[in-house]
Amino acid sequence: CGIVGMIGNENVSEVLLKGLERLEYRGYDSAGVYVANQNERHLVKAQGPIKQLAEKMTSETTGTLGIGHTRWATHGIPSEENAHPHVSQHGKVVLVHNGVIENYRSLKEDYLAGYQLVGETDTEVVANVIEQRMEAENLSVKEAFKQTLRLLQGSYAFALIDTNDVDTLYVAKNKSPLLIGCGSDFHLVGSDALAMIHQTNQFIELFDGDFVTLTTNSMVLEDAAGNVIDRAPYTAEIDNTAIDKGTYPFYMLKEIEEQPLVLRRLQQKYFDFHGNVLLDDTLLQEISASERIYIVACGTSYHAGLASKAFFETLTKVPVEVHLASEFGYYTPILAKKPFFIYLSQSGETADSRQVLVKTNQLGASSLAITNVPGSTLAREAKYALSLEAGPEIAVASTKAYTAQIALLSILAYAIQLEKEDSQLNLLQELTLVEEAMTQVLTQKEHIHQLAKDFFRDTNSAFFIGRGNDYAVSLEAALKLKEISYIQAEGFAAGELKHGTIALIEDGTPVIGLITSEVTHLHTRGNLEEVKSRGAKTLVISETTFAQASDQIILPKAHPLLMSLVSVVPTQLLAYYATLERGYDVDKPRNLAKSVTVE
Ligand code: G6P
Repeated sequence: CGIVGMIGNENVSEVLLKGLERLEYRGYDSAGVYVANQNERHLVKAQGPIKQLAEKMTSETTGTLGIGHTRWATHGIPSEENAHPHVSQHGKVVLVHNGVIENYRSLKEDYLAGYQLVGETDTEVVANVIEQRMEAENLSVKEAFKQTLRLLQGSYAFALIDTNDVDTLYVAKNKSPLLIGCGSDFHLVGSDALAMIHQTNQFIELFDGDFVTLTTNSMVLEDAAGNVIDRAPYTAEIDNTAIDKGTYPFYMLKEIEEQPLVLRRLQQKYFDFHGNVLLDDTLLQEISASERIYIVACGTSYHAGLASKAFFETLTKVPVEVHLASEFGYYTPILAKKPFFIYLSQSGETADSRQVLVKTNQLGASSLAITNVPGSTLAREAKYALSLEAGPEIAVASTKAYTAQIALLSILAYAIQLEKEDSQLNLLQELTLVEEAMTQVLTQKEHIHQLAKDFFRDTNSAFFIGRGNDYAVSLEAALKLKEISYIQAEGFAAGELKHGTIALIEDGTPVIGLITSEVTHLHTRGNLEEVKSRGAKTLVISETTFAQASDQIILPKAHPLLMSLVSVVPTQLLAYYATLERGYDVDKPRNLAKSVTVE
């Protein structure tokens, strides 16, 4: 979910709508706005993407105070009733919320007997508890809001309007991301800077427990202890044009094509002119001295961790474990005496990863967050932070953040190796070769489009197989395809397929083989033959050294440790074109949200 709010002297509707469009990657099940001024009050909600909401808003939907929300359903189905903003039963307060209130059922029982709630959301319960507190205890909106916050268990970013006071906007945060945007005669609140960058580049970070009272010209920020705090704004360096789709039909294609450029940016940021790595020495020493590295992540970032494990261990000689954040939180493995944690996250906001970070911080373990959003929660709360330099990634399915994560981890591993010994590798040169190889793969776009049409337009399932790093890429390739084309796709270790899953191979089942390694190419070929003789339709993506004439996609050679950076690109394009051919929205796949800020 994403929230946005504004208080100013001019009509805020357009700004809210633009902000919601920018937040749409966080959820697009339904959306809504509430805008008000002295004489008018408007509540507009719509199921579906923001454009449905925009169509329902008219030139009369105006106000100088407003809040908006785009929803990714957690409690209650996507519907207009469940869409935010939520108005309390007697119309005293209006609330938008990102997060999950875990004790909403008991709150309902304890405070809302006799209340008729319209939907099924935790947020509607909170809005009504605030109103109930006002009425039962004769409290102001602000007092009732603060009292209610003390009753809540869970995560929240709230923006609240008192319907009798159009000159104030209340904001509270715990665990869910939220920022204040500052202007000369307005204030904004939003889930991220992207939602407000069209109005300002001055932002104030909020921390857990913060409570903010905003007017057009003033801001009072109270911390968790209730102390009034003076916190200076920072300037966000987001290039407004980087958020535009330009001439591309979809963000995903733009982002796939940006990958060589992102690699170049990483080289520029993390190497000096002489080829020396520019990374904090204490960070390198800490990792180098650790006994074991734990990479913790979710989704595509987890896959980037898997694809980096081998080179990280090879270069640093430190054992690496890669963990799913959502599992690690519940079953913490026996940790090494000197562990080091690396959190990989495009958004830097994923709640599953954050809960592990909170835990490892409590244990006193050292950590590094690698994110695409400097200043994000993970980047702030880990001991060290590095930026992916990928530029805003808008398509829900992650592409350039994945390759940026692998590339940055390779730079980090290389720098750690250099702390210990001389390296045989000239990483800067190798990354330049990868960049060229990626560019070459991108020139095969139309050919890959044709293959996507042949293999995926009419299939319901597909398998990606490979060994070693090719297996790691297979997992990501399959995830990409299922996320956006809705084909049931699985990535398998090529040698493991025959131990069970091969039973699923039927006449015409697409099996995509990845072959980029000297050590494994013959065996993977063998596995492809096994499935072919059982009717599978095979598509082979091979590095030129190991290629055969019948292979459909040939990849240029790059350093074996870095081949996943190259081999993933055709699989991203296959997923993209498969989705176009099947007629779905590439950038906004059903049921997904890009930034999942609930556990
Ligand atoms: C969501 C997105 C995935 C993403 C995952 C982790 O589920 O839909 O594309 O890989 O979160 O996100 P992060 O921002 O932590 O990399």
